[in-house]
Amino acid sequence: MSFVVGIDGPAGTGKGTVAKIISEDFGFINIDTGATYRCVTLKVIENGISINEPDKIIEISKNIDIKLENNNGKQEVYMDNKNVTREIRTKEVSALVSQVSAIKEVRFNMVDLQRKMAENSNVIMEGRDITTYVFPNADVKIYLDASEEERANRRYKENIEKGINSTYQEVLDNIRLRDENDKNKEIGALKIADDAIVIDTTNLTIEQVVEKVKEIIESKLKSEGVENV
Ligand code: DC
Repeated sequence: MSFVVGIDGPAGTGKGTVAKIISEDFGFINIDTGATYRCVTLKVIENGISINEPDKIIEISKNIDIKLENNNGKQEVYMDNKNVTREIRTKEVSALVSQVSAIKEVRFNMVDLQRKMAENSNVIMEGRDITTYVFPNADVKIYLDASEEERANRRYKENIEKGINSTYQEVLDNIRLRDENDKNKEIGALKIADDAIVIDTTNLTIEQVVEKVKEIIESKLKSEGVENV
């Protein structure tokens, strides 16, 4: 069978962490769709292409090879067979990725890839348009939210842990800019699906969020008569 859990929401709501824990607990494949847009953006930067050259960006998105792998519990990202797990999280990539991901044809190419990654598998997929566009018939649809200050705070701490150099204000500005871009995309804009369950994580720990998401998945599996996936 193929069981799809979609999680959408803005940056810093804990989607990545929640998806990772759930994927391990339920044995689902974890697909971080933001990483696919980040790979295209990294390649654009590496090739010295500007955001004002959409044709070149589209060409890159057509030919890029992206693989998401789980190596001993660590989610690793490969672009053209090179491990770019760290490089795709730099400030430069974060500053440009929402503009790159707003290009319609780039989205079509990445959505094709994301759907292929999920073929015939049980997956947990997180992003911005999973429950509305990539998998509008997902078995479970969740929207995670949180205040922008709390989200910036989480990302800032995460950056420190990862050794990424940034100030709180830079992170907050970047989150605001990306929210604005993500909500106003022509295709695949960030919005709450009519049938999504919204969880406000502002005052919740990651464990509490995971617990809620687990309950939702378990109840859905039960209602579909699935004992073990
Ligand atoms: O989840 P993230 O912060 O790594 O995502 C990076 C960017 O990619 C984000 O600014 C919006 C874009 N994105 C998107 O447009 N659609 C998705 N399904 C996932 C991410």
